[in-house]
Amino acid sequence: MRYIIGGNWKMQMGPLNSIKIAKEMVNHLKDIKNIEIFIAPSYTSLKDLSEIFKGSNIKLSAQNMSEFDEGAFTGEIAGKWLVELGCSYVILGHSERRRIFGESSEKVNKKLLKALELGLKPVLCIGETAQERIEGKKFRVNEEQLEKSLSNVSLNQISQIIIAYEPVWAINNRALNPVGEIRAATPAEAKEMHDFIRSWLIDKYGSNIGQNIPIQYGGSVTPENSEELFKIPNINGALVGTSSLSAEKFSKIVFYASKLS
Ligand code: PGA
Repeated sequence: MRYIIGGNWKMQMGPLNSIKIAKEMVNHLKDIKNIEIFIAPSYTSLKDLSEIFKGSNIKLSAQNMSEFDEGAFTGEIAGKWLVELGCSYVILGHSERRRIFGESSEKVNKKLLKALELGLKPVLCIGETAQERIEGKKFRVNEEQLEKSLSNVSLNQISQIIIAYEPVWAINNRALNPVGEIRAATPAEAKEMHDFIRSWLIDKYGSNIGQNIPIQYGGSVTPENSEELFKIPNINGALVGTSSLSAEKFSKIVFYASKLS
């Protein structure tokens, strides 16, 4: 399976910087042919980046979208406008959406079904908190998020979806992890959960389909730890936050994946 490497810029890159870094990325990554790459900037940079990425091997993603078509919904962004601006992917159910903005799996599911209807590839994020892990709920939490977020997705549609396993405790975010060390999952921790997700997908959708749904790992991915993570069979790439804010670091991560693919 090809690796898929995504950069999630969150609310961390303004319009002018976005243009600069996006151009650097196009340049750094122009020779990479065997990796699927996407960048998710702020909504306010989608149009600029759509122009910059045109003809390159970097695809455009949004970080979220509305579950509604369009209408009187202050502050929301319609998926069809993301398509109009050239997005191919949309990140849904990121832990920051779930845990800081209170998005439930039911809401994520509505957004995901809308994205599929519009031909956007959903990157469905799931992950347990440190507390849930301590309480022995890690499998249950991820399973429940998968079950509910993927409700009513047909066998035909499921192959459009990318899963991103992002343990909340590994995400470089002090709002999510106010105390303690924030670190990437070790290869063993990541493997355990990726294997679990893979079995769940195979149980649910059959082995032909379930085997081929990409599962990205996310949470403190860096050029230093990515290669080891990519060697794990059920890790099919990464969703990268902090390290995607640097064209150089992000490109190194892509190069490691490219080398292994
Ligand atoms: P991080 O973020 O790489 O900064 O930990 C990952 C993510 O939240 O997608």
